[in-house]
Amino acid sequence: MTVSLLPVTRDNVRAVCELRLAEGQEHLVAPAAYTVAEGNYEPDAVLHAIHLDDVVVGVLLVEVETGVPYLVRFMVDASYQGRGVGRQAVELLVEELRGQGWVSVETTFVPGDGSAEGFWRRCGFRDTGRTRYGEPVYVRDLTGEVAEPVPPSPG
Ligand SMILES: CC(C)(COP(=O)(O)OP(=O)(O)OC[C@H]1O[C@@H](n2cnc3c(N)ncnc32)[C@H](O)[C@@H]1OP(=O)(O)O)[C@@H](O)C(=O)NCCC(=O)NCCS
Repeated sequence: MTVSLLPVTRDNVRAVCELRLAEGQEHLVAPAAYTVAEGNYEPDAVLHAIHLDDVVVGVLLVEVETGVPYLVRFMVDASYQGRGVGRQAVELLVEELRGQGWVSVETTFVPGDGSAEGFWRRCGFRDTGRTRYGEPVYVRDLTGEVAEPVPPSPG
């Protein structure tokens, strides 16, 4: 099974918009259809469908507003979570951004119940100590070879 990042096109846009979160995850990330819409109006945004072979299983959106790429949306469909798809998609994005000459990428997440903090830590992100719109800002350095996953924080 191969994970790939592909453009959102007329062929896969419906499948992207129909991506679903698990019950109780709705507060963590905006609906996929919003991500598709916003990605089309954000200057310099990178909008990718996450494919597992030929099935659309997720979506991500990167904005470049402040001089550092900001991964503003990232979701894997509820039916495909917990299989390593998210981690592989992050690595593909990291390779793409590194290839474009970026040296770091930032993300934020909704803290609390069901938070993706542990996922970002497993993907080599660390806390900057800053917040953006009240959410913690985590950063992944792109200059090293392979990220050493950081164990999840206690609790
Ligand atoms: C968070 C999300 C993107 C993770 O994708 P995924 O494909 O399920 O994650 P993976 O299977 O690649 O997991 C990679 C590692 O992170 C861990 N992990 C995944 N989600 C986690 C979470 N919410 N909390 C703690 N650890 C998590 C996995 O256990 C795995 O750990 P391992 O290194 O021990 O194997 C996905 O669950 C999702 O879309 N969640 C709802 C929306 C959301 O929170 N998006 C993030 C917005 S900031």
